Amino acid sequence: MAESRQVNDLISIERQGDIALICIDNPPVNATGQQVREGLQKAVEQLNAEGGAKVIAIYAAGRTFVAGADIKEFGKPPQPPALPDVFNIIEDSEIPVTSVMHGTALGGGFELGLATHARIGIEGLRVGLPEINLGLLPGAGGTQRVPRLAGIPMALDMALSGRMVPAQEALEKGLIDRLEAGDPRDVAIAAAQDVLDGKLQTRRTCDLDTPKDDAALEETATMLRKKQPHMFSPHKIVEAVRASYLPRTEGMAIERQAFVDSMDTPQRAGMIHAFFGERAVSGIPEAKGDTRPLDRIGVIGGGTMGSGIATSCLLAGIPVTLVEVAQDGLDRGVATITKNIDGAVSRGKLAADKRDAVLGMLTPTLAMEELARVDLVIEAVFEKMDVKRDIFGKLDGICKQGAVLASNTSYLDINEIAACTSRPQDVLGLHFFSPAHVMRLLEIVQGEKTAADVLATGFALAKKLKKVGVLAQVCDGFIGNRILAHYSKAASYLVLDGASPQQVDDALEGFGFAMGPHKVGDLAGLDIGWMTRKRKADTRDPNERYAGDVADRICENGWFGRKTGKGYYVYEGGAPVPNPEVATIIDTVRTEKGITPREFTDQEIIDRYMTAMISEAARVVEDGTAKRPVDVDMVFLFGYGFPRFRGGPLHYADTIGAAELVERIKTYAKEDPHYWQVPPILEKMAQDGTKFADLN
Ligand code: 3HC
Repeated sequence: MAESRQVNDLISIERQGDIALICIDNPPVNATGQQVREGLQKAVEQLNAEGGAKVIAIYAAGRTFVAGADIKEFGKPPQPPALPDVFNIIEDSEIPVTSVMHGTALGGGFELGLATHARIGIEGLRVGLPEINLGLLPGAGGTQRVPRLAGIPMALDMALSGRMVPAQEALEKGLIDRLEAGDPRDVAIAAAQDVLDGKLQTRRTCDLDTPKDDAALEETATMLRKKQPHMFSPHKIVEAVRASYLPRTEGMAIERQAFVDSMDTPQRAGMIHAFFGERAVSGIPEAKGDTRPLDRIGVIGGGTMGSGIATSCLLAGIPVTLVEVAQDGLDRGVATITKNIDGAVSRGKLAADKRDAVLGMLTPTLAMEELARVDLVIEAVFEKMDVKRDIFGKLDGICKQGAVLASNTSYLDINEIAACTSRPQDVLGLHFFSPAHVMRLLEIVQGEKTAADVLATGFALAKKLKKVGVLAQVCDGFIGNRILAHYSKAASYLVLDGASPQQVDDALEGFGFAMGPHKVGDLAGLDIGWMTRKRKADTRDPNERYAGDVADRICENGWFGRKTGKGYYVYEGGAPVPNPEVATIIDTVRTEKGITPREFTDQEIIDRYMTAMISEAARVVEDGTAKRPVDVDMVFLFGYGFPRFRGGPLHYADTIGAAELVERIKTYAKEDPHYWQVPPILEKMAQDGTKFADLN
């Protein structure tokens, strides 16, 4: 006789003869919040105490198995029972327990599966230990049970990369016992029956010994000391995995301590801010509501940006019409897109057998009239207002009514562009970041007249392209490039006043940036900034200290960075080495300007650079260019290589505090009162003790 009962709101037990099913139903992702933990513990304890059931099968309702611990609880006082204790109770159950996992089983979700005595995956399942992306490590047995089942290298790989492991691989590695098709509940009943019939073996994972592999542990520990010296949790992961040699109680205690210690770090707070921030940027009313169709997209311009944008759309399954003015440009665009798609195949982002179909969705043409059939056009041509005005005037005559007209401009006035059409309500900015098929940021720029459904369509496109769409208002450079234009001067002033480009880069790489600003400049091409400085030469504020002397002279030599083999660094195959001729240029400029160079510590470099960044970021929030501080943070994480573990410039600002930042600006202002000005919003925050987080 079948009978069902709720253990609590989120956990239920269903009895079918000798079989007991435990169902977790905690939408949207079945996270193991306090009630789930308590319910699971009670369910297993009750079933063991009652007797009757001879096998237990755990499954979850909804779109996915369990996405791990409830991240919203992190940073708050822990509520018992603790997840590892619940899982040990499951592992210790006298009645054998199987689990059936579908969708994604991540972190604590996968650890739940690992604690059961047999695991079935439903086709399409992916398992993973993504805690590292939150500044943490698996804290409910993941570091203890994965090595026992799949060996130390696999445990290190999963816990250090956070990658999602496809079901087939999980099966081959012994992380799951079977892969089946079907509804989780049906599969759970069948699996339980198989246990009863002796067709599915059960065993306690912690009864197994971890196969010894000291070499893998040593090699990884050495690599991490070299490559990630400033990170906390990766080193703890190695320690915890090593502890899986020990009996469960001791190993779990080491893992637990490492988890608790990681929880206390600012890195954990920064990364969790990043996790929720990524989702919060599209949680605004402007991103919601009716949208327009996105069945075919037009891209104008086959250069690096246009080709990257087209690639991104094709990879998302959206057919693209690519327009160029001349055949050679069009051929180059098609070649770049083909190279990008082939790259996606070799990186495992696209299945090889889909390559031709994806490329088949591309229609290259010299006829702009072909854009009559597209739903959305993205113009990605040379950054000149005259050119854009001409294109948008033509689009107005060609595109169907209701088509969305977007410009990928990185700083030009969207309102002026929109005014060249009879339909400014259909125009917006969609600012991609290079390489556009890789970088996840999309600034969605709202013009004065942009219609609500056009803006929402921008967000819908971001979602389809798996990008992080952030709303920005019109200004020179929008959110990211405007802030960049300001703080990059701080790096130049540091060099003028005594630091070397390499010292600045090293200090900021030590802070966590993947590359320092001079290396980034060399990579992007120093000619870009040179052109911008020339463009703005006439309108430059005479009171502002000029920051471009050194870079201008480097460019005058034809050294534009990597692409010319020389810039701030010399590129001759191996690692870049500082360009000795740049040191001479710097000396000359200092002498001409009567600057006596002085020493800067790495900390001073970081403080000045970050304070400059925060100052302009604060102004961007103050004048409404960005809606909230979190929007600025996500722009920097997803578009500018800002270290994720620091959460973004304004999250980082909160860790310093407005009062300290104001103090710093006032001190620096003694040297340069024009550049260093306290943004009123920061002054106010310093007075009333508020944080940027309060404005989100
Ligand atoms: N805790 C709390 N909320 C969570 C959550 C979690 N673990 N995972 C997702 N959510 C929330 C999201 O914030 C989002 O909320 P919103 O609708 O209010 O914005 C909602 O659930 C849906 O999430 P997504 O928009 O991300 O949905 P997707 O379908 O795109 O992705 C997912 C689903 C792949 C499960 C993705 O949400 C994900 O990667 N989640 C995080 C997984 C993770 O990091 N787990 C480890 C947690 S730490 C841990 O387990 C510690 C343990 O070892 C002790």
